[in-house]
Amino acid sequence: MQLVVALDMPSSAQNTALAEKLAIYDNIWLKVGFRTYIRDGRYFIDTLKQINPNFKIFLDLKLYDIPNTMADAAQEIATLGIDMFNIHASAGEVAMRAVMERLSQFEQRPLVFAVTALTSFDNNSFQNIYGSSIDEKATEFAKMSYKNGLDGVVCSAYESLSIKEATSDDFMTLSPGIRPFAEASNDQQRVADLKFACAQKVDFPVVGRPIYKDEKPDEKVKMILDEIERVCKVL
Ligand code: C5P
Repeated sequence: MQLVVALDMPSSAQNTALAEKLAIYDNIWLKVGFRTYIRDGRYFIDTLKQINPNFKIFLDLKLYDIPNTMADAAQEIATLGIDMFNIHASAGEVAMRAVMERLSQFEQRPLVFAVTALTSFDNNSFQNIYGSSIDEKATEFAKMSYKNGLDGVVCSAYESLSIKEATSDDFMTLSPGIRPFAEASNDQQRVADLKFACAQKVDFPVVGRPIYKDEKPDEKVKMILDEIERVCKVL
């Protein structure tokens, strides 16, 4: 299990300061999302790599468009030096294939994950949009992503295990909505702690507010890494 820290702070200076505090960790991922990337762009990615070249970077832009536009975007993303990015599974199989095919020209390509169901959805609102339950659709999207050569899916910790059972143990899961020590759930509907995430074989737990809103985010990360070591080992 590898920790992903969401850099969702309101300014570039704050995100940079957070990354600097976390530079002592060589084994964590940093998630750069909409807000940060729209504001600070490629330059910010370079800054992170300068702070610690061992940081792994997940660009969370959740691409959703026609296949050719998604493939074009994927090609540009592959030149950024990031390690993982994501698309929406509901963009469909043709889009998935277009993205993976375009990336095949790179000797070292970033990992590609597909978003199944946003963790902020509850079952009712999900049903209204997709016409089926989160469980059912998340598994269907995961199978589709696996079949088309993606590396994993973004899903809640609650779907991780059944997705692996329906695809493969090696097909990776990345789960936001993780509250390591039962902190406030905020706007997330389906939160889980690390013990549960580990039992569900989540490969990448994503933690944002519980870390960056803490007075000592570097110490919080240490606590989380220790907890991962503890709960994943005993399983
Ligand atoms: O602060 P918190 O730990 O809730 O942050 C979760 C992060 O994961 C946010 O950056 C959010 O945009 C992202 N995310 C999510 N649900 C998804 C995909 C990404 O919460 N399905």
